[in-house]
Amino acid sequence: MIIAHVSDIHIGGSDESVERALRVRDYINGLPAPVDAVVVTGDIADHALVEEYEIAREAMRYDAPTIVCPGNHDSRAEFRKVLLGETGTGSDPVNQVLRLDGLTIALVDSSIPGRHDGYLDDATIAWLAATLAATEGPVFVGMHHPAVALGLPSVDAIRLTHPDRLQAVLERHPHVRAVLAGHAHTAASAVFAGLPLVVAPGVVSTLKLPGECVLPDDWTEGDALDFAVPPAFTFHVFDGERLVSHTRVVL
Ligand SMILES: [Fe+2]
Repeated sequence: MIIAHVSDIHIGGSDESVERALRVRDYINGLPAPVDAVVVTGDIADHALVEEYEIAREAMRYDAPTIVCPGNHDSRAEFRKVLLGETGTGSDPVNQVLRLDGLTIALVDSSIPGRHDGYLDDATIAWLAATLAATEGPVFVGMHHPAVALGLPSVDAIRLTHPDRLQAVLERHPHVRAVLAGHAHTAASAVFAGLPLVVAPGVVSTLKLPGECVLPDDWTEGDALDFAVPPAFTFHVFDGERLVSHTRVVL
């Protein structure tokens, strides 16, 4: 089973944001063997505008079952209206599940309206616990914000807060096999709650690592983001037991 994991397309966030998102989409759709699903871990529309979401909807038209969650740049109401086709919108967290043959993917909404850091509120924690309890077989749990510090000061300052709330749920459900995230704009892997935590690279830009710029002077968001590095995404290869994650740059 192969899952394409795309993140941080930030439509409207740069002159090339649309072209880069389309390039990744076309690469995935053009593969000789289709992927089993596509996961997009947030920061879909840079300014959360309806027009940006309308472009994003096309840029995420993958030829495979697709599941998307919001990031800190997104707005739940516009996200729901354009991407999910929901009327009445509402500002409740966008928690969704995708059930495949042999794998369930549950994406939870770690965004906090009006803020850049992340949090899983009571309703989301309850939703995740109920979803995991009702699911047999392996599960990937995903969200925008990484639940651990990555050694990247600008990202670590706005990571998932109170990760113990997530950890407590995951530890009660050993059929969870991985945690997926975005937000960092650079591919990363760590361990959280005894599980692989895999961060997909950013499509719109790539965050420089501490050794790639002078700290702290260069560590403002604008200077630390490299818009020249080509977009990339992650291929998750899962055999039912073992997950191996590969990063693919799309030239
Ligand atoms: Fe982002």
